[in-house]
Amino acid sequence: MTSPQRTALVTGGSRGLGAAIARALHAAGHRVIITHTPGNIKIGPWQRAQAAQGYTFAAYEVDVSDYESAQEMARRIQADGHQIDILVNNAGITRDATLRKLDKADWDAVLRTNLDSMFHVTKPFIDPMIERGWGRIVNISSINGSKGQFGQTNYSAAKAGVHGFTKALALEVARKGVTVNTVSPGYLATEMVMAVREDVRQKIIDAIPVGRLGQPEEIAALVAFIVSDAAAFMTGSNLAMNGGQHMY
Ligand code: CAA
Repeated sequence: MTSPQRTALVTGGSRGLGAAIARALHAAGHRVIITHTPGNIKIGPWQRAQAAQGYTFAAYEVDVSDYESAQEMARRIQADGHQIDILVNNAGITRDATLRKLDKADWDAVLRTNLDSMFHVTKPFIDPMIERGWGRIVNISSINGSKGQFGQTNYSAAKAGVHGFTKALALEVARKGVTVNTVSPGYLATEMVMAVREDVRQKIIDAIPVGRLGQPEEIAALVAFIVSDAAAFMTGSNLAMNGGQHMY
């Protein structure tokens, strides 16, 4: 089943998994808008490089950890004439440390960016989706939201919260043509994972049954399916893709 062209918003869509999702949705025929952090001077060159490869992305700045910043971003997107049919809440950060060493600032930054952002960014787009009777929301969680991870009390708590948010919202909009799902990637070959100390990272890779990191494009293909018309019966689900590292 081919889906009609929709407009998708991918937070944190210029890097890592977000960029792969943006490209996959563009390749599926959708208009794609990405967000980036305020003042990111790499966005212009990145957009031009993508355009040279055939990918046209509009870009808006937002601090997803800040409620007002997210509302302002939504106002600008709507004022520019876009209606968001597909929302991918992807933007996220890590601040890894054992709880004994973790400070309050790094707890707050991860909870605000990875969990509060679900509320901040979804809030302005949910009513228009309900009014149009069609919408797709995909929230990016993590394997570590389900299994926990040494050094990630903040990240694991936030990512577990993402799925609670997904399930509750899925119930609220199930009769409105809007689906809400969680995708929980395992360890991918992205900057975020490459930032983990080499010896620690190697041990993690050794524990992945398929014996390798995932590619962001593998997760992106799953997201492209979830936002299609073919996936209308899937809502409130948590879709895992992690090379067998954690089986649900
Ligand atoms: N289980 C049990 N004990 C462990 C352990 C584990 N998994 N890992 C380390 N330890 C032990 C160590 O053996 C060591 O013990 P001793 O003090 O007795 O020797 C002690 O805990 C301290 O370990 P570290 O040297 O690792 O501690 P550190 O303070 O230097 O580093 C850390 C802590 C930065 C959190 C580091 O452990 C780390 O980077 N961990 C990986 C975190 C991770 O997986 N992050 C994922 C980022 S990517 C992502 O999040 C994307 C996604 O969704 C998957």
